[in-house]
Amino acid sequence: MIITIDGPAAAGKGTLAQKLAAKYNLAYFDTGMVYRAVGIDLIANGISPDNIVGAEESARNMTFSKMQELAQNPDFRSPIGGQAASKVAAMPKVRELLLKMQQDFAKKPIAKDGSVVAGVVYDGRDTGTTVCPNADIKLFVTASPEVRAMRRHKEYLQKGLPSMYEDVLAQTKERDLRDSSRAASPLKPADDAVIIDTSDMGIDEVFAKVCRIVDEKL
Ligand code: CDP
Repeated sequence: MIITIDGPAAAGKGTLAQKLAAKYNLAYFDTGMVYRAVGIDLIANGISPDNIVGAEESARNMTFSKMQELAQNPDFRSPIGGQAASKVAAMPKVRELLLKMQQDFAKKPIAKDGSVVAGVVYDGRDTGTTVCPNADIKLFVTASPEVRAMRRHKEYLQKGLPSMYEDVLAQTKERDLRDSSRAASPLKPADDAVIIDTSDMGIDEVFAKVCRIVDEKL
């Protein structure tokens, strides 16, 4: 069983994907990590995330274990990591180089506890359109930029990171624009995706709705 969940930043994809993976005993792949890994790899080596040659070189040498190592960097989940990820993610060759790594995960999906399981929940921007066009269930989870920025702002504050709502809103809009206007795999729902707007929905409500879709499919 392959479930893809695409959508813009802070729409609630990650939480939903992890809850689904736990309930249906599936692995979870946060595909944004591959782009964050390249972005952080560049920054850690003093290279600008706008540097195409550097980004392609990093993507060429990226492995699953290197990505997990880079995820320990304090900037990996910060706005710095997010902006760097969205810059390298706009480079077509970088996307092409990282695609196989994302697709290969489904061949032998490993769950959180290390066991091999029967499927994957993918979370990202193009998992239903490019990474797994044959997925069993495709979801596109979205919310208004204001609601998403407020969620991200609260998340940063909870983690003890400094945050200003206006700045987070501006960054959210900037990333939305870059993600949806790029030439390679722009952010857009797959033709056969179920679109869920979570602006006025809590995570439990979203989860219950999606579980009904999965149970029906099963
Ligand atoms: O949740 P958030 O958007 O903050 O982070 P993420 O999912 O880790 O994505 C970071 C960036 O990676 C996004 O802004 C996209 O530019 C890029 N990305 C992508 O292009 N394709 C994916 N499948 C996943 C992420």
